[in-house]
Amino acid sequence: MEKYYENPAILHVGTMDNRAYYIPFASRKAALEGNGDQSERRLLLSGTWQFRYYSSVLDVPETFWLQDGLCQDVIPVPSVWQNYGYDRHQYTNVNYPFPYDPPYVPLENPCGVYRRNFCLDKQESMRYYLNYEGVDSCFYVWINGSFVGYSQVSHSTSEFDITDFVKQGENVIVTAVLKWCDGSYLEDQDKLRMSGIFRDVYILVRPSHHIRDFFLHTDLDAEYRNAVIRADLSYFDTPVPVRATLLDPMGCVIGETAVEGDTVSFSVEGAMLWNAENPVQYTLLLESEGETIAQKVGVRKLEIRHQNCICLNGQPIKFRGVNRHDSDPVTGYTISREQALKDLALMKQHNINAIRTSHYPNAPWFPQLCSEYGFYMIAESDQESHGSVSLIGGDFEDNYCALARDPRFMSAILDRVQRNVMRDKNCAAVLIWSLGNESGYGENMENAGRWVKSYDPDRLVHYEGYHPQAKDHVNDCSMLDVYSRMYPACADLEKELRDGMDKPYILCEYIHAMGNGPGDAEDYQRLIDQYDGFAGGFVWEWCDHSVYMGKTEDGKRKYFYGGDFGEFPHDGNFCMDGLVFPDRTPHNGLKEYKNVIRPIRARLLEDGWIEFENKLDFTRLEEYAQIAYTVTRDGVPVSEGIFDGVEAAPHGKAKVLFDPKVSGGGTWYLNLTYRAAKAWPFCGAGHELGFDQLLLADEPVAVEALKGSAAMAVAETKRQIIVATPTFRYIFDKVAGQFSALVFQNQALISKPVEFNIWRAPTDNDRTVRQEWERAGYDRATVRVYETEARVEDGLAVIECHLSLAPLVLQKILDIRMRCVIDGEGRVEMSMHCQKEMAMPYLPRFGVRLFLPKGMDTAKYLGYGPLESYVDKHRASYWGCFTTTAAQNHVDYIKPQENGSHWGCASVEVWDGSGAGFKAVSSKPISFSISPYTQEELTQKAHNFELEEDENTVLCLDYGVSGIGSNSCGPRLMEQYQLNEETFAFTLRLIPRDL
Ligand code: GAL
Ligand code: MG
Repeated sequence: MEKYYENPAILHVGTMDNRAYYIPFASRKAALEGNGDQSERRLLLSGTWQFRYYSSVLDVPETFWLQDGLCQDVIPVPSVWQNYGYDRHQYTNVNYPFPYDPPYVPLENPCGVYRRNFCLDKQESMRYYLNYEGVDSCFYVWINGSFVGYSQVSHSTSEFDITDFVKQGENVIVTAVLKWCDGSYLEDQDKLRMSGIFRDVYILVRPSHHIRDFFLHTDLDAEYRNAVIRADLSYFDTPVPVRATLLDPMGCVIGETAVEGDTVSFSVEGAMLWNAENPVQYTLLLESEGETIAQKVGVRKLEIRHQNCICLNGQPIKFRGVNRHDSDPVTGYTISREQALKDLALMKQHNINAIRTSHYPNAPWFPQLCSEYGFYMIAESDQESHGSVSLIGGDFEDNYCALARDPRFMSAILDRVQRNVMRDKNCAAVLIWSLGNESGYGENMENAGRWVKSYDPDRLVHYEGYHPQAKDHVNDCSMLDVYSRMYPACADLEKELRDGMDKPYILCEYIHAMGNGPGDAEDYQRLIDQYDGFAGGFVWEWCDHSVYMGKTEDGKRKYFYGGDFGEFPHDGNFCMDGLVFPDRTPHNGLKEYKNVIRPIRARLLEDGWIEFENKLDFTRLEEYAQIAYTVTRDGVPVSEGIFDGVEAAPHGKAKVLFDPKVSGGGTWYLNLTYRAAKAWPFCGAGHELGFDQLLLADEPVAVEALKGSAAMAVAETKRQIIVATPTFRYIFDKVAGQFSALVFQNQALISKPVEFNIWRAPTDNDRTVRQEWERAGYDRATVRVYETEARVEDGLAVIECHLSLAPLVLQKILDIRMRCVIDGEGRVEMSMHCQKEMAMPYLPRFGVRLFLPKGMDTAKYLGYGPLESYVDKHRASYWGCFTTTAAQNHVDYIKPQENGSHWGCASVEVWDGSGAGFKAVSSKPISFSISPYTQEELTQKAHNFELEEDENTVLCLDYGVSGIGSNSCGPRLMEQYQLNEETFAFTLRLIPRDL
């Protein structure tokens, strides 16, 4: 094996020039009926191959490609070998998994040798092309003992002409795959690092002269009515006669012509235009020499108009996007059409209309699916060299830009960008080409960008990584069409938007969806809606990356992440930052995002008018949605119906006059549910598109006055205050500053002393502030009581207690003056006046924690549910009346963390199987959570399958809980969502259930 793998000047040996992806068919009928998988001109070599793994390429025997019995194992193709027990998994984000010494990679470079036989009925009139759609990281090919070629760029197709290598009958193909090559320096994407032939391998059987490549262009007249569809062709060897036929979206032939020279075009009057909401496509058939190529054609025109708006067919569009990796907990990088369709279905069901293929091209049929089902794509090149930022010494920017400027890598970077563009250039879905991700900037990126702009001027060019600028270079961004950023804080973003931009603005990554989150989706959406030139964003990211490791003995699924494989370096659970769990179960974050990007928004105007705004770019509201309403009082439905005849153009508004007939007190809401008026791909008629909730009236019911009792008795010892009547006996602990027993009608309502609570199990988004919290001792705060006083006043027991919360080592965090009043019915009212030490960081939460007898695990609440909700993350929930249990309320994040809180609650009631329990109310809305787990357990455990339930049910009643944000990668939690008041008062009333 020649050392091509450490030579960035030799990227491919024996490969064909890049071309658009297509699979030829033997007949028009076959081409129209099947996808490439069904073509008889494709001989699929995927399947079981013989295999041998060498932990070092040095150990591979000489001339192994000639040796018959060498490969004694078997492995499926496509797959990654780490999933079959070879090598080991590794998750690293920025850091390279090997020393930084380009173009050299470790001498001990793992190698997988693949081998299989295949039968061919070789026809002399045909040519044979071997295709690999994806191999990580580089590979060498031999057929029947002869060297065919070498290639790299993991996520791109490599095609070899093997006509002269194959023979009639039995043939042998050997492929040696290396784990690392010089290209690995350009494939430093944040992902699990896997190796092998991970996409299909096949042979295309083609006539001796054939169409090699073609490039589709669609153009529209000034009215966006009449279209010209043009294909520019190139041939293998010499031109061949080609018949071109155009079919309309219904499948009727609307044009047929012989191709003259290397171009063919069709004029279509009143063309049906492609967009993500209505992805209609024509079909172009190219027939030559007994071969048919069928290509879908989405007619559309992309422009920047109206002051930096990205316009499709003249209409400004907004991206409601996600970043998507090819990733699966079982199959790794290997993704089937079915798996991809599952993602696309979920995305459609959650209002997502755009995908950035972070950070490499997906399988070649993926952009076709996006074109067919209607997604806008930023198609990204297989390019990231982020790891150079970790170098010691030198300037950060210079380090970052090292490979983007290294002349040795100029052709490699251009090659990666070209492979991306060439392969997917005929897909309507691709609106934007991305040069790659986090590779710094400089001559190499500029060169690649210029090539894209000149090759495909009809699309936009994107690259976010142009922000760093090396010291002795002035970045030329003239070929970049969009201004792209990732993770700016809303305030900074708003400032940039207000200052104005000379290009459309997008966030290629934002609202980092790691763990419990993201919390700030609505805040960004407000800006997307407000600024025309802001074309939207792409959530980081679609799916949690993880490796499925089977089940525990008690049947819990084990998902592993960085560090679980004993690897170095690794980045822990930073790979699990998706909107869906590894198995594609939606996170609450996806539901949050869905409703934030709902296609309709409503608001109340004056005098009983409701205004509906149609957020879609191309579809009239009445064509896609039906609006149902329910009026609720204190969470209970009072009336319901349908708003008929709400009509609004795309981006238009409609008004409806409505009298909800509010009478009497209570909290009244108008709930509006938007349902699909008709079926569309992946969404049946009636599918819920989103909802709005409008507050009609809010007159909370006045709390009953406490009632004294003649039987009220208060006794005091050094440690305790005992308050008792014949129906209850409560003990207040003078050291803990809280109740240690609440026994009502002979039933214990708590099984441990009540605690003041400021800690929460850090969420992934708390990963930075967590250090401040731990430094401030929030996880080990202790109570110091200064003074306690108890007395009976008008038949009420009154306990006054002055205390503080302070951690070992440090000054106090909170000073609390509490007054507890207990009445004759056993009601306990605690009023806490708190003063916070402002030198300390903002609080995770403030409230009390109650340990309830295990069986007291049912809760009913009036507040934001049924999903977990926080001050900044509650758009998937609505205000209503919900019942849950501790077990149901737990959200099983793979890396355990704070979860299941409910914001804005007017009341919470808990009870056990016998009905014993109590209700909690406050003068201001509170947050609450009920869980089988303690926050300490959730803090400590690394995986959900390790969690052990507490012997009690844990109930948290909170004055406030800090917001969620997206600081796992995004900005610090916005101030308005931090619990950081200098003084605040919390009144909580506990009302035992009378049995
Ligand atoms: C971005 C990067 C992504 C991912 C993300 C953090 O900077 O482009 O690939 O690493 O951060 O999850
Ligand atoms: Mg990166």
